[in-house]
Amino acid sequence: MYVCICHAVTDEQIHDAVADGADDLHAIQSHLGAATGCGTCAEYAQKVIDEALAKKLSYAA
Ligand code: FES
Repeated sequence: MYVCICHAVTDEQIHDAVADGADDLHAIQSHLGAATGCGTCAEYAQKVIDEALAKKLSYAA
């Protein structure tokens, strides 16, 4: 599902980026361009990042 329409970034891409070490909104903006256009997706992008981080931590535990 698209999180960022401006840059066609999906939740799956964000999950993959977080798994590869992009662990905050700034890193996701740099890596994928998400939330660097109109900005309306920033809050939801952060939520997806938080979910991905929680998933990553649960695998590490
Ligand atoms: S929808 Fe993500 S920057 Fe516009």
